[in-house]
Amino acid sequence: MTTVLKLGGSVITDKDQPETVDRDALEHASETIARHEHADLVLVHGGGSFGHHHATEHAVSRTAGTHDTDATRAIHEAMKSLNRIVIDALATEGIPALPVHPLSVGTRTVDGELLLSTQQVQTMLKEGFVPVLHGDVIAHAREGTTIVSGDELVRVLATDLDAERVGLCSAVPGVLDAGAVVPDIDTFADVAHALGASESTDVTGGMAAKVRALLALETPAFVFDREGIGPFLEGDSPGTRIGFEPSG
Ligand code: IPE
Repeated sequence: MTTVLKLGGSVITDKDQPETVDRDALEHASETIARHEHADLVLVHGGGSFGHHHATEHAVSRTAGTHDTDATRAIHEAMKSLNRIVIDALATEGIPALPVHPLSVGTRTVDGELLLSTQQVQTMLKEGFVPVLHGDVIAHAREGTTIVSGDELVRVLATDLDAERVGLCSAVPGVLDAGAVVPDIDTFADVAHALGASESTDVTGGMAAKVRALLALETPAFVFDREGIGPFLEGDSPGTRIGFEPSG
């Protein structure tokens, strides 16, 4: 049964320093994954201080594209550097991690829908590897290239691979309501008062949009911080469970 785990960019990088890895956090995450169940695991990581500042510098977002090859390469190369560092850290712990670069396997339609080929991920899993994808730039019809976030990749992977569980490791211990972790979210109404009803609520760090998207999945999703990685891989329910009751 496939598990998809995203390591947020704010977990593994120092978001305030351009292209700086948080080595302690990355080692902690790698050690934890190595000590727990990681058969049939797909990893995704975010951009943190590697992707976001290049994207901002070149004014590229998920919807605003560029036809500038140098800008596209700058973002992609920064993300590939981070991916190499992540894979090295995982390999040091004995995890059979292999890179999958979304620029080469994904695209966005004119409507902005993300299409991702997952055959290579499926074969890697069957052969005992741990595929590691990352936020990236991808070709976008009529836009040139746009950003694809790790969260979007997680959602498409969860659906296409019929994943059993999805985990999002972030800088916060779960979805917060007045500073306290909300254990379960079954409908957006459960947390609308805490997150704001609109997807454009920036003060929540995009949590409203994240929760809405995860509720639409037919896979239970968990949002937790680094302390939740081990329990999540053990099948426990750290942080906030969003949508789809695991026991049915
Ligand atoms: C961003 O990915 C990728 C780029 C900016 C190229 P994410 O949006 O998933 O990254 P984090 O987890 O928020 O840092």
